[in-house]
Amino acid sequence: MSTGFNFLSSLLLIACFSHSYADAEHQSLGKPAEQLSTQAQWNLTITPDGKGLPIGKGSSEQGAKIFALKCAACHGPAGIGGSAEPLVGEVGSLTSEYPEKTINSYWPYATTLFDYIRRAMPIDAPFSLSADEVYALCTYLLSEDDIIPTDQELNEENLPQVSMPNRDGFIAVYPDKY
Ligand code: HEC
Repeated sequence: MSTGFNFLSSLLLIACFSHSYADAEHQSLGKPAEQLSTQAQWNLTITPDGKGLPIGKGSSEQGAKIFALKCAACHGPAGIGGSAEPLVGEVGSLTSEYPEKTINSYWPYATTLFDYIRRAMPIDAPFSLSADEVYALCTYLLSEDDIIPTDQELNEENLPQVSMPNRDGFIAVYPDKY
């Protein structure tokens, strides 16, 4: 009888401990989903036609300064020759022996450039750039590649209209959409 009691109370004790251990573990995971700022941070997608672009603008001159400060250490002084991916140049390289997917050689939409830089770059500080800074960086990189004139400013209205060199290198899954 007493052995049965001891066995039963040991089981109850184990159950108590494992229950509180699991709770403590759950409580330390993540943050409540209802925190709006977190949701807004993830809800950033920009479609090829520019839906989702924030209001803002930036010039190539401003972009060059930001690039030198926040990007050149990895991507090279003018977007090429660093330890990270080359961003400019390499036109026509996709069909060569050493294909390089750059903004000029590969990217079909300028809006994707905005989306990517805003959510992922600088790689050690994603989400840290303002909308104007991202417009300025897009303007700088696209003008370095002669895709737009150096004196053109980009904003939420004209960025989707930039005609990318490799736009026709992609097959549209929804031809009527974009
Ligand atoms: C600490 C190094 C680092 C810094 C600083 C940095 N990048 Fe990058 N960047 C990378 C790496 C690494 C990749 C490749 C990431 C991958 O392929 O997943 C990349 C990829 C990119 C790409 C996509 C290239 C492609 O065609 O696939 C763009 C565009 C870009 N970076 C722009 C920027 C801009 C603009 C800045 C400055 C605001 C910046 N990066 C700062 C390391 C960096």
